[in-house]
Amino acid sequence: MFKRRKAPALVPYDMFDAVRVGREAEAARSLERVYHAGQSKAWDGRALLAELVEKHGGVNLSPDKVQALQKILAVIFWGELAAWKVSADLALRIEPLEAKMAATSQAHDEARHFYVLHDYLALLGYTPGPLPVAASGILDKILSADHLAKKLVGMQLMVEPIALTLFQMIRRHETEPVLCELLRYYERDEARHIALGVNYLPELLKEMSPVETVDYWRWELGMIRLEVDGMLELEAEFRVLGFPPAEVFRLGQAKQLLAARMLADRMGDDGRVTDVFRRISQAMVEYHFPTDGKRRLMPRRLLHALRAAREPGTMDEALTEAA
Ligand SMILES: [Fe+2]
Ligand SMILES: [Fe+2]
Repeated sequence: MFKRRKAPALVPYDMFDAVRVGREAEAARSLERVYHAGQSKAWDGRALLAELVEKHGGVNLSPDKVQALQKILAVIFWGELAAWKVSADLALRIEPLEAKMAATSQAHDEARHFYVLHDYLALLGYTPGPLPVAASGILDKILSADHLAKKLVGMQLMVEPIALTLFQMIRRHETEPVLCELLRYYERDEARHIALGVNYLPELLKEMSPVETVDYWRWELGMIRLEVDGMLELEAEFRVLGFPPAEVFRLGQAKQLLAARMLADRMGDDGRVTDVFRRISQAMVEYHFPTDGKRRLMPRRLLHALRAAREPGTMDEALTEAA
C-alpha cells in the first residue's frame, strides 16, 4: 500500500519548526537578502524611462535595425510576463519564509520589467504578437510544468541567464542608447532572481522521489534542446544587429554554466556534475558554431562536437565574460 502524502495545511503553522544548519541556513540568509535588496534597489520604471527618453532625445535606432530589435525584445517581453507568473506562483506555493519573500520580491520586479518594456516597445511603435515556435514552446513548457522544481530551474537558471546574455549583447553593441541604459537596471534585478533558483532548488530536489528525479532530468534535457532552437530562431536578427551568433550562443551557454556551477556548489557537489554540464555546453557550442568556422556534414559534425567536449578550458574565455 502506498502512503498518501498529507495535504499541506492552509496556514503553515509549522513554518518555523525546522532547524536549519550549515548550507541550508546560509541559503536562507541569501534568500532573505534578495528580498531586502529588492526593496532598497527598486526603481521607478515610469520616471526612469521618461528621464532616459529626455536625456537621449527619444529612441534612436536606424530603420534597418528596428525590426530585428523588435523580434528579440518580443521574446524578452513575453518572457518577463512568464517570469512574473512563475514568481507569483512560487510566492504562493513555497513555504520557507525567506524563499517566499524572495519570490514575492521577484514578482514585484517582473511586473516592473514587463510594463517598462511594454512602454519602451510602444515608443518603437510596436506591440508584440505571438512568438516563434521554440521560444513560445519554452515559455509554455515552464508555465505548464507539473513540479515547482521544473518551474524554478526553467525560469531562474535557464531563461534568466539567456535574458542576461541578450541584455549584455545589446549593451555591448550599443544597439540603442535608451535601451542600453534601461537594461542596466534589468540586469541588476535579474542577477538577484538567479539567486532564488540557486538557493531554493536544492531543497526541492532533496524532497523528490526517484521517479520524480528521473522525470525532472528528462524535462530539463527537453528544455536544453528547446533553448538551443530558441537561440537559432533569432540568428538572422543577431546578424542584423551586428551580434555574431557564435558569440551570443557561447555567452548564453557560459551564463547557464555559471548558474549550474553556483547550484552545484550550493548542493556540495565535488565538481563532477559541473564538469558534465561544461562538457555538454562545449559540445553544443562546437556543434552549432565551430571555433574553426569549418562547415561539416553529419556525422563528422557530431564527432567534432564530441571531441570538443573532452578538451579542457575551451569555455574559459566565455565564462570570464559571463561572470
Ligand atoms: Fe525580468
Ligand atoms: Fe527575472
